[in-house]
Amino acid sequence: MSVRERRTLVTGGASGIGAAIVRRLRAAGDHVIFCDRDEIAGHILAEQTGAIFRCLDVTHFKAVDELCRDTQPFSVLVNNVGADQHAFFTQTNPDDWRFLLSINLEAAMAFTHGVLPMMQAARFGRIVNVASEAGRLGSKGGSVYSAAKAGLIGFTRSIARENARYGITVNAVAPGPIHTPMVDRGVAEYGEKLLQDMADFTLMKRLGQPDEVAAAVVFLASDEASYITGEVLGVSGGMGCGA
Ligand SMILES: NC(=O)c1ccc[n+]([C@@H]2O[C@H](COP(=O)([O-])OP(=O)(O)OC[C@H]3O[C@@H](n4cnc5c(N)ncnc54)[C@H](O)[C@@H]3O)[C@@H](O)[C@H]2O)c1
Repeated sequence: MSVRERRTLVTGGASGIGAAIVRRLRAAGDHVIFCDRDEIAGHILAEQTGAIFRCLDVTHFKAVDELCRDTQPFSVLVNNVGADQHAFFTQTNPDDWRFLLSINLEAAMAFTHGVLPMMQAARFGRIVNVASEAGRLGSKGGSVYSAAKAGLIGFTRSIARENARYGITVNAVAPGPIHTPMVDRGVAEYGEKLLQDMADFTLMKRLGQPDEVAAAVVFLASDEASYITGEVLGVSGGMGCGA
């Protein structure tokens, strides 16, 4: 099956990295369905790209299950949705932990749970999870986010192990600092210096662009990546070098 005939589901697709993934997959000819809780941005992107938008809070797992059931089959799933909160661990509480684990880890589980049986029946599938270098390196002020992303990496490898025999590959990308609205919210809170600090964490001394992550995701979802599974591809300007 060529990538041009694939039906693809992208989570958190209305902004930043997710929107870049939707644009790239549509340009490649995929039939793309993306979900997001941002109704306005979702409808605008759908109009611009011809992708189909579903407004949904990904932490409502019953709604996720219904979406997967009503819109499948999918041959490609991109678990992109995520959110962070900057706070030292002692300043966080169990509500923060549940929120961050739910959106960064459990949502990917819910979507994977929703689409896997059909992929197994079709004996083909590509799952790409958007993790983070924080999941491999840790992050000062992002302990729970890092734990969730490390969990997503463990989940990626485990689902890869369980599903290779069905012709399903499961990989993750680990972005470093990427210039998206997520980062702009941090800049609004902590000032412009944050951008330089983030750039300094990388070997390339710059932030990445959403499309640079989207390119890696589209590669892992493509026929060209047919013998790659259980991997984590850093897209971080060398930030994870040696990790
Ligand atoms: N930007 C970075 O520097 C960076 C670095 C490493 C990893 N990541 C990861 O990349 C992914 C995309 O991040 P981004 O920077 O593009 O963020 P973003 O904030 O620009 O986009 C996230 C999207 O998810 C949607 N969303 C958030 N909560 C939702 C919910 N409960 N239900 C439905 N939709 C919801 C938002 O509306 C938004 O459209 C995330 O998983 C993030 O953790 C980002």
